[in-house]
Amino acid sequence: MNSSSLVSISDLSKEEIMRLLAQARHFELNPNQKILDGKVVATLFFEPSTRTRLSFETAVNRLGGRVIGFSDASSTSTSKGETLKDTIKMVSNYVDLIVMRHFLEGASRYATEVTDVPVINAGDGANQHPSQTMLDLYSIYKTQGRLDNLTITLVGDLKYGRTVHSLIMAMRYFNPTFRFVACDELKMPEEYKEVCRQNGIKYTEHKEFSKEVIDTSDIIYMTRVQRERFADLMEYEKVKDLYTLHNAMLDGARDNLRILHPLPRVNEINPDVDDNPKAYYFQQAQNGLYARQALICRSLGIDIPQEPLSISNQK
Ligand code: CP
Repeated sequence: MNSSSLVSISDLSKEEIMRLLAQARHFELNPNQKILDGKVVATLFFEPSTRTRLSFETAVNRLGGRVIGFSDASSTSTSKGETLKDTIKMVSNYVDLIVMRHFLEGASRYATEVTDVPVINAGDGANQHPSQTMLDLYSIYKTQGRLDNLTITLVGDLKYGRTVHSLIMAMRYFNPTFRFVACDELKMPEEYKEVCRQNGIKYTEHKEFSKEVIDTSDIIYMTRVQRERFADLMEYEKVKDLYTLHNAMLDGARDNLRILHPLPRVNEINPDVDDNPKAYYFQQAQNGLYARQALICRSLGIDIPQEPLSISNQK
């Protein structure tokens, strides 16, 4: 695997994460620069996306590079039976970096084994979404002024939600306390609870999204129930609306609480939360642009200045 690839958030050390966050801050202050002149990036999306694809493409465009790719694999030779291996080898002939989302867990890892071009995993099935995690960490840092010793409540689809899986892996460096709020059908998989146990991370599991849980959280991370991962849609119907955050539920919350959601949302956050100053999900998505500019430069070996991260409680 090309060491400039990013397949799992576990590929990054704590020092690399902190450096990338400081570089994201640099891009937030200077989003338009011509440092990717002559570089071509492919965005290969075998699954739907709004934020991830468009923010990666915006990131390249704002840095003066070019983008090729597809947002619908049915318009490519995949529909004629071309294998993922052949697709990756072909695209590698044309570009300097591949950003790929695929419905199969492990697809990005596999891609790194058939090309020397760096690959950034933009989401592989229910497995990992490391660029989302970098923007989540940046959002947490910006709103809390630190990453250490926070109480983080993850709510909803903890079984299939790749963003929460990646976030747990990244937070193992920062001594969090996790609350996992989910029904039995969507509870956190054993392998991620094992990561917590092995890293001394405190966690509790809850079926009820209670006032006590809300009022003692620093971050509440809501997630969408991943309809596309259910083999039986009747099972999806049973669990899809179990957890919805309403504005009135935040009355006793800590001042520093911020609500995150990787988006898209369906019914997990009532629109009456949107105007609450604790709602941070739209700014979170905006932070994705800066975090992804930093990741693109890492993969392309472009050295970027770092800016101090003393940005507590900024928008
Ligand atoms: N958060 C996220 O991955 O959003 P998209 O599916 O729209 O890219």
